[in-house]
Amino acid sequence: MSTKFYITTPIYYVNDKPHIGHAYTTIAADVLARYHRLKGDDVFFLTGTDEHGSKVAESAEKAGMDPQAFCDQNSALFEDAFKGLNISHDIFMRTTSDRHKKSVQMFMQKLFDKGDIYEGVYEGLYCTGCEKFLTEKELVNGMCPLHNRPPEQVKEKNYFFKLSTYLKNVRKLIETGKIVVGPESRKKETLGLFDQGLEDFSVSRERVTWGISLPWDSSQKTYVWVEALQNYISAIGYGDDQAAFEKWWPADVHLMAKDILKFHAIYWPALLLAAGLEVPNLIFAHGFFSLNGTKMSKSLGNVIDPNDLVKKYGVDATRFLLLSQFPFGQDGDIKESEFTTQFNAHLANGVGNLTARVATLIDQSGGVIEKNEYSELALATFAHIEKLAFHEALQGILDEVHKADDRLSKEKPWEKPTDDADRLKLLGEIAGVIMSIGHALAPFMPDISEKIISHFSQSKITKINPLFPRIT
Ligand code: ME8
Ligand code: MG
Repeated sequence: MSTKFYITTPIYYVNDKPHIGHAYTTIAADVLARYHRLKGDDVFFLTGTDEHGSKVAESAEKAGMDPQAFCDQNSALFEDAFKGLNISHDIFMRTTSDRHKKSVQMFMQKLFDKGDIYEGVYEGLYCTGCEKFLTEKELVNGMCPLHNRPPEQVKEKNYFFKLSTYLKNVRKLIETGKIVVGPESRKKETLGLFDQGLEDFSVSRERVTWGISLPWDSSQKTYVWVEALQNYISAIGYGDDQAAFEKWWPADVHLMAKDILKFHAIYWPALLLAAGLEVPNLIFAHGFFSLNGTKMSKSLGNVIDPNDLVKKYGVDATRFLLLSQFPFGQDGDIKESEFTTQFNAHLANGVGNLTARVATLIDQSGGVIEKNEYSELALATFAHIEKLAFHEALQGILDEVHKADDRLSKEKPWEKPTDDADRLKLLGEIAGVIMSIGHALAPFMPDISEKIISHFSQSKITKINPLFPRIT
């Protein structure tokens, strides 16, 4: 029986178009999903869009559109961008789907019936940009530092979740590694939050209209975060298809950036415990990157559309360029101006040139070659992927390309007769390395990997069309 592997990305807000931040997490998840499929696991890969709440409603109003039509339009942009990036998700989840709404209402009713939800009055500062309440301490000059806008003073009737009942338990699950929070620094950060004190939080909003009504009080909409987290279970049939739900739950990996770790590592497990459900295995928060040294934001007008990268560099190179910039898990900076240089150095002159040179040399020797099997590289790469060390995995592949290039420069097989035994031996060895590069690249660059493998596994190897034509 094969092992099941359920992996999720965040579901992204549809208040705006997708940018390379969304692409980054989704490509990383795709690499993991593809790797697990290669391994023979039974994979379910979820991505999608988060469509309710005041932030989305506000943007729809600004666009002069009905909120559902606005969501349909923007959600499609995410789906298209992910198609363009060759993302292999099994479901594109939308929180405005009927399935999700029904599932959420069941879950909320269950918690209410259990006595884990109680009525109260909330008074606080709400930032619509964050879709959360902020404390005075978090403000800078009276503004939300992330969104540069003053929060709204809110006082309204809300329903609260008894987080306090579950805190000790969640903490223990994280401490003991039953829920792995990664990387290690994020685990420490999460445990630190328990020491600072965490309060019961409101699970509904009175003044929000664009959302899912609470089943027992239709004057209230489910708080968008509480509802959004539940997409991870509604997508696999919670409250609808019990067999599917039991097959896939709990999630093996929830992937996201550090901005939303608290919701995933504390609130979500607590809600799950309240509902009597299992907790996720791994919650991994990667870093945040800036663009050319500045925060990427719509108001600064400096966001990169992933479709533009795909147009310029092709899908596989875009996946490579995004994941190779800095170690996964750390914060980083992406310099757009370096993309072309890196593309030419690592892909056109690297992988592309090596395969082209060797294919030509083999072709000149008659095309038939005894390949020397080599599998260390693929194995080392997969071991890195297991640890979510995508950057190191790619670095290891590039190192192997350089090593092969160096051998060619040193041994100069082109100076030898085409039927020379040493020449044929060397080409056979390097062809084996190239096959291994092809296998190692499979989760990262599915199309290029396929081209390399199919070309070099022919019984008669001919010249190959350039995999990455140089960009000027
Ligand atoms: O938070 N660097 O959606 P969101 C790295 N709807 N990753 C980035 C990034 C950057 N500069 N910018 C965005 C939400 N991301 C909620 C999630 S889940 C139940 C609900 C990625 O549209 C990263 O994955 O604000 C981050 O966590 C996510 O986009 C936030 O997307
Ligand atoms: Mg955000």
